[in-house]
Amino acid sequence: MTSGAASSAEAIKQAKAALRQEVLARRDAADTASRSRHSQTITQKLCASPAYRAADVIAAYASFGSELDTSAFLARILADGKQLLLPRINREQRALELRHVIDLGADLVSGVWGIREPAEHCPILSPTKVGFMLVPGVAFTAGGARLGYGGGFYDRLLASFDRRIARVAAAFQLQMVDQLPEGPRDERVNMVVTENQAVSAITT
Ligand SMILES: Nc1ncnc2c1ncn2[C@@H]1O[C@H](COP(=O)(O)OP(=O)(O)OP(=O)(O)O)[C@@H](O)[C@H]1O
Ligand SMILES: [Mg+2]
Repeated sequence: MTSGAASSAEAIKQAKAALRQEVLARRDAADTASRSRHSQTITQKLCASPAYRAADVIAAYASFGSELDTSAFLARILADGKQLLLPRINREQRALELRHVIDLGADLVSGVWGIREPAEHCPILSPTKVGFMLVPGVAFTAGGARLGYGGGFYDRLLASFDRRIARVAAAFQLQMVDQLPEGPRDERVNMVVTENQAVSAITT
């Protein structure tokens, strides 16, 4: 790597850290009632989307902190008779395993950072059958650029995914930014849903 490339990578890293801090502070400051109301609106939009309806296997995540509350979405996936996969952190490999969850009460345990994740007894499933993947993140642009939490976990997971899988971000409008710093390994989403915006399909 040339020193120019190294310093540009460092600049991107710093710009990401600054934006992450700014957007998380904004999200943490939002009141609980509006977060809960917006979560319901977003869940309805997700479930009404053609990509959701067409998918038999859905990968999603259990929310934490001031994130959009995904619990109603997860329950709806199971109620709709779809297969639900949730990520479990594999620390040695610094990777996410997608595991099959059939019972949101019995199958989830508290994992790293207190985030609920599938227990060891849940089978690991190959992501090849996934038709719709809900991707978490801190900030997004209308064009599908994504700023995550800083581990590169979703960048690595998404890089191994078939391009045809619907990668969907659900976020509060306050997480939307005009532009964000992107490096060569950052993966984009192809749909962003917020409480204000109609589901926007992004062609990449
Ligand atoms: N496909 C990859 N292979 C190896 N390292 C990667 C890959 N994707 C990202 N990384 C590394 O992971 C680190 C964190 O990346 P970044 O800051 O973009 O995380 P993030 O997108 O915010 O996190 P996440 O995806 O977990 O939400 C960086 O050092 C980045 O180079
Ligand atoms: Mg990234």
